[in-house]
Order: sequence, then C-alpha cells, then structure tokens
Amino acid sequence: MSAIKVGIIGCGAIGTELAQYMDRDKRFQLLYILDEKKEASEKLLAKLKNKPAEVISVTDMEEADLIIEAASQECVRERMPGALEKADVMIMSVGAFSDTKFFREFRDKAEKLGRSIHIPSGAIAGLDALKAAAQGGLDSVTLTTRKHPSAFEGAPWVKKTEVPLHAIKKPTVIFEGTANRAIAGFPKNINVAITLALAGVGPEQTKVKIIADPFAVRNAHEIDVVGKFGTMNIKLESNPSPYNKKTSRLAAFSAIATLRKLAESLQIGT
Ligand SMILES: NC(=O)c1ccc[n+]([C@@H]2O[C@H](COP(=O)([O-])OP(=O)(O)OC[C@H]3O[C@@H](n4cnc5c(N)ncnc54)[C@H](O)[C@@H]3O)[C@@H](O)[C@H]2O)c1
Repeated sequence: MSAIKVGIIGCGAIGTELAQYMDRDKRFQLLYILDEKKEASEKLLAKLKNKPAEVISVTDMEEADLIIEAASQECVRERMPGALEKADVMIMSVGAFSDTKFFREFRDKAEKLGRSIHIPSGAIAGLDALKAAAQGGLDSVTLTTRKHPSAFEGAPWVKKTEVPLHAIKKPTVIFEGTANRAIAGFPKNINVAITLALAGVGPEQTKVKIIADPFAVRNAHEIDVVGKFGTMNIKLESNPSPYNKKTSRLAAFSAIATLRKLAESLQIGT
C-alpha cells in the first residue's frame, strides 16, 4: 500500500504531535503544512526529518489524501469547505459544528463529493459506548469539565461575566448550560462538548457544567449518560499538552490513533 499523503493546517500543540508521529511512520507522508503564523510552521519544520512544503492555502494541497485541521473554529469555517474539495478531512476544532446550518452544509458537501469527515474522540472517552447506547434511545447526556482556572483565561464567557479567575480559591462552577452555549463561551476549552453532542443527543440537549479548580493538575472530563441501555459514568483525567495548557494531551494522542486507523486493517471498538 502506498503512503497516505497528508496536509496539516495548524502547527500548534496537536499539529506538532501529529507531524512528529508521521515523521516516524512510513505509512504516512506529510506533504504540506499550513499555519497563519509563519513562526509556528517554521518551528515545526525544524523538528521534522522529512520536510513537508509550507503552503499558504488548501488549494496548494493538490496531492493530499487527507487534510487535518488542528487550528481553530475560524479555520474550519474558512478553509475546510475548500479542503473537502481536495481530500478527506479530520477536524479537531469540532466546536465549529455547533452551527447546525454550517454542519449540515459541510456534511452534505462531503456526501456529494464522496469524502469522509473524521472527528477524533479528542480529550474524552466513552464515545464508543455512547454511539452504541444511542441505538436504543438516550434520556440524558451530561459533561462536567474541571480544569485549572488559568486554562480559562481569555474565554469569552469569562470576559462577559467577569469571572475573577485569579481570586478563585476553591473548586467553583463557572458555567452551566447547553453544549451550544458552552462552546460559544469557551471556544478553546470545550470542543469535546460538541463531539459528545454529535454522537449523542445534539448540542441543544447535551448539558455542560464547567468547574474552575485551583487544585486541578490535570484536565478532567466526566460524562454521565442515561438511556434504555442503563447508565454510564466515565471520568477521565488528562495531563495538559506540553505545548498548550488549554489542550489535553489525550487530544493529540486521539488524533494520532484516528490517523493510524486509516492505515490499519484491524478496527477495534464501535
Ligand atoms: N476535539 C478535541 O477534543 C480538542 C481538544 C483540544 C483542542 N482542540 C482544538 O483543536 C485546535 C488545535 O488545538 P491546539 O492545542 O493544537 O492549538 P494551538 O493554539 O496550540 O495551535 C493552533 C495553531 O493553528 C494556527 N491557526 C489558527 N487559526 C488558523 C487559521 N485560520 N489558518 C491557519 N492557521 C491557523 C495558530 O497560528 C496556531 O499555530 C483548537 O481549535 C483547539 O480548541 C480540540
């Protein structure tokens, strides 16, 4: 089998780990990298043995079989519809799909073009069981996320409600609401709420609670599901990425595992 040719958009925490993985695995050939910040793509390039081309647009990713977005929700909206015209895509900034109209159009486009949209589990566990449970009907899906207050710096919700992050001395609930409102308020922290919503009961029905915990050393996501199948409670604590404390380390590992699935004949899990 010839190597799967890949382009990465976004050379930050996740893009860097993915690129370094592909540098070691001959089943993949990283042909292109793209970042709106030149210093980010140059920094990544310096870490790689097999150097991809630095490009400025998805239209330059002519030979890609797969284009990976590991950048931002804006990038999903602006660049990824064009990427679909070239190749299959993997999306990390899943929050962009909280816009149902955009998501429907994106999915329709993929279907018309015969392309696949890969959404890794990211920083959560339990999507396999949730997808299976959904076949029998679900009553409720709740996500509780706990991170150090510093991980929420700059979030629109924190700015709007003037949450005094530096003054938080004990675990404090700073948000409770739907997945849709959560991603609007915390676009860089809670992509997993939308992944969970897409696999389960949708962004308006998925409930989210966010806790700023000054004692938290890891990013914790707890998922509670109730349905015809029974109940599920899953708690996962991930170390923050060494490159970006807002991002859980598991998110990059999950993207790598999704990538490897494309090259492997044995598929395990729902
Ligand atoms: N699905 C999940 O579970 C999950 C988990 C963690 C992070 N994320 C999301 O994945 C994305 C990447 O995360 P990260 O930690 O690697 O981020 P990062 O900030 O470390 O890196 C992102 C890089 O993308 C570049 N970029 C941003 N917008 C761009 C655009 N429109 N065009 C080109 N380049 C652009 C930035 O310059 C930066 O270098 C973020 O949106 C993050 O919120 C998803």
